Amino acid sequence: MITSDIKIIRERLLEGDVIGLPTETVYGLAANVFNSQAVKRIFETKQRPTSNPLIVHVASINQARALVKSFPDKALQLAKAFWPGPITLILPKNQSVSDLVTANQTHVAIRIPSHPLTLQLLNLLDFPLVAPSANPFNRISPTTAEHVESYFPSIYTLDGGPCMSGVESTILGFEDDEVVLLRHGAIPIEAIEAMVGRILNRTQASHEAHLPGQHKKHYSPTCELIVTYEPLFMLSAVKHKRVAIVWFHTIQIESIDVEVNKVLSPSGDLAEAAQNIFSVLHELDQMGIDMIIVERLPAQGLGLTVNDRLDRAAAK
Ligand code: TXA
Ligand code: MG
Repeated sequence: MITSDIKIIRERLLEGDVIGLPTETVYGLAANVFNSQAVKRIFETKQRPTSNPLIVHVASINQARALVKSFPDKALQLAKAFWPGPITLILPKNQSVSDLVTANQTHVAIRIPSHPLTLQLLNLLDFPLVAPSANPFNRISPTTAEHVESYFPSIYTLDGGPCMSGVESTILGFEDDEVVLLRHGAIPIEAIEAMVGRILNRTQASHEAHLPGQHKKHYSPTCELIVTYEPLFMLSAVKHKRVAIVWFHTIQIESIDVEVNKVLSPSGDLAEAAQNIFSVLHELDQMGIDMIIVERLPAQGLGLTVNDRLDRAAAK
């Protein structure tokens, strides 16, 4: 059920239900972080392994502080600069956060989302919300309330319109005085490095082996997906199928072998491409296409984030 009534959503959360929620990145599947039954229901609804921890969404830096043992200087600097917004910080949890939420990790993922409706909701509640993306495990992330409804028709979803960013938050960890990139996301690494200097990638961090999540296969349509710099070259190898090509900014050549051509951003804007990628994949998936060929984006800024999602969507 889709609703724009925030009071209904608040009631459902107080009852311990799971609800769909808009954020500036993608829609989340949310519940009261302090209600273990409700948190369990999130894992069940998503069919997500309980070894994959959840992000906690808070209304303020103070509410975040109440969940952690310490807040490293660089984490605080980033929180002050980017919250509310699409950066998730991995911080040492205190006993108020259950092991179920963090999948037995010593650290908890936290962010303040910037969608106005969700901020309003968080301010009406006296508990934070856990919210993974509102898609079944491994499927395409939802960027509209209708996407959530099509996955989970029996839950209430708060309608906040199409998501502004269209890709998930950037996730950062902290090791000694270093910042570690754990997931490319809606804030490009260039913007983070401009503030805190060079950051490490995951493979350079010493606790890499203990990090959960980040499955190789993820974000997938039900049909086959290929990501390449040369869509037409790939097309020649896949005759006799209903094929769609998703171009970055221009259709290079209209081929009769292609059933549908989509363009992510006619002006070549990486942010617009990021905003559209998941909704284009949803649309093509629903058309019953056999194969989607996606043009790889330039490897910079949000292009890195979209390419990361496409590589996972293409993984076997
Ligand atoms: O933009 C977003 O981050 C969206 C919206 C709804 O906020 N949420 C989202 O959640 O993308 P999810 O669960 O789909 O992805 C969260 C990722 C997973 O890969 C998970 O393994 C990782 O964050 N994660 C969560 N808690 C963690 C922790 N304590 N340590 C390391 N990684 C963690
Ligand atoms: Mg997800």
